[in-house]
Amino acid sequence: MTKTILRALAGETLPTPPIWMMRQAGRYLPEYRATRAEAGDFLSLCYNSDLAAEVTLQPIRRYGFDAAILFADILLLPQALGADLWFVTGEGPRLSTITDADGLAQLKPIDEIDEVLNPIYETVRILSRELPKETTLIGFAGAPWTVATYMIAGRGTKDQGPAHALMQEQPEVFEGLINILTKATIEYLSKQIEAGAEVVKIFDSWAGSLKGDAFTKYALEPAREITQALKARHPGIPVIAFPREAGNGYIGFAKATGADCVALDNSVSAEWAAEHVQVDSCVQGNLASSHMVTGGQDLVDETRRICKAFAGGPHIFNLGHGITPDADPDNVQRMIDAVREA
Ligand code: CP3
Repeated sequence: MTKTILRALAGETLPTPPIWMMRQAGRYLPEYRATRAEAGDFLSLCYNSDLAAEVTLQPIRRYGFDAAILFADILLLPQALGADLWFVTGEGPRLSTITDADGLAQLKPIDEIDEVLNPIYETVRILSRELPKETTLIGFAGAPWTVATYMIAGRGTKDQGPAHALMQEQPEVFEGLINILTKATIEYLSKQIEAGAEVVKIFDSWAGSLKGDAFTKYALEPAREITQALKARHPGIPVIAFPREAGNGYIGFAKATGADCVALDNSVSAEWAAEHVQVDSCVQGNLASSHMVTGGQDLVDETRRICKAFAGGPHIFNLGHGITPDADPDNVQRMIDAVREA
C-alpha cells in the first residue's frame, strides 16, 4: 500500500486529501516548547539529531498527520557555507552579510558543507526508522532566492530591498551567489534523500517579490535546475515547489520546473488554483494560517471549501504558510476532522 502523500504526488485523485501542516513542529505546541528548552535554543535543537527527531515526531503522535517534515531551518545551509547565524528572540534570524565579490569569495567550498550539516542527515536517518509506516518523510531546503535575501540583508526584510539592490548594482555577485546556492542545495537535498527523505520541498518564501524576467531567472530557473538534478540522481523522487505569493507565476510552474506539486499560499483562491494550477499537477494548500488562531465555524467552512474546490484532482491539504506560535492546538484538530469527515 503506497503512502497517501506519494499517491497524491503521483497524480492520483484521492477521496480524502492527505494532510500535514507547515511548521507543524513549533511553538504553538507545549511539547515543542519543552524540548526546545531542553536543547537550550533553536539552533541547538536543529543540530541535536535526537531532539530534532523528537520534535518532528511530536505532531505525528498528537495528530496523526500523513507527513512529517524534517525539523531544521532554511538558514542552516548559509551557516554551513560559512555565514554567521544567530536568532534574536522575538525578532528572528541575523546573519553576517554578503555585499560584494569579496564576501562571495569567502564562502566555503560546497564539498565542505556536510561538516556542519551531518547532524541534519542523522535526524533524517532516525526519522526514517521511527516514523509510523504510513507517514511520509519530507526533507526541505530554502530556494536560492529566498536564502540569498537573508544572506544579503543579514535578516528578514519586508520587501527584500537589499537583495533587489545587489541584483541591479552588482549582477555578477548576485548571480554568483544564486549559482552557489543552487549547487549547494542540490548536494544538501541529495544527502537528505540518501538518508531517507521520501519527498523534498523547496521553500521560496519571497518568490512573490520577483517580477517578470527576474521571476523566471531567479525563482523558476533555480527550481528547475534543482529539480532536474535531483531527479537525475534519484529517479522518481517527488519534488514540491513553493514559490510563495507567485500569483500568476504559479501557472505552469510545475511543468516548467518538473516539480510534481506546487504549494499554494492563501493569497490565491482554491477555485482559481483548481482551474489554472491543478490542471497540470498535484497542488498543496492553502488554508490561511490565521484560522488556527481564530477557529470557530469559519475554520470548518473554509477547510471544506478548499477540499471541495480541489476534489477533482490531486491535492495535499496544508496551510498557506506556517502555523504561528499563537495558534490553538485544538483548532488544528478541528481542521483535520473537517478534512477527514467527508
Ligand atoms: O515546517 C516545519 O515544521 C519544518 C521546519 C522548518 C522551520 N523553518 C523551523 C523553524 C521549516 C521548513 C522552516 C523554513 C523556513 N525558515 C523558512 C521558509 C518558510 C517560511 O516560513 O516562509 C524561512 C523563511 C525560515 C527562516 C526563519 N526561521 C525565520 C524567518 C524564523 C524566525 C521566525 C519565527 O517564527 O520565529 C525561523 C525560526 C524557526 N524555524 C522556528 C521554527 C520552528 C521558530 C524557532 C523557535 O523555536 O523559536
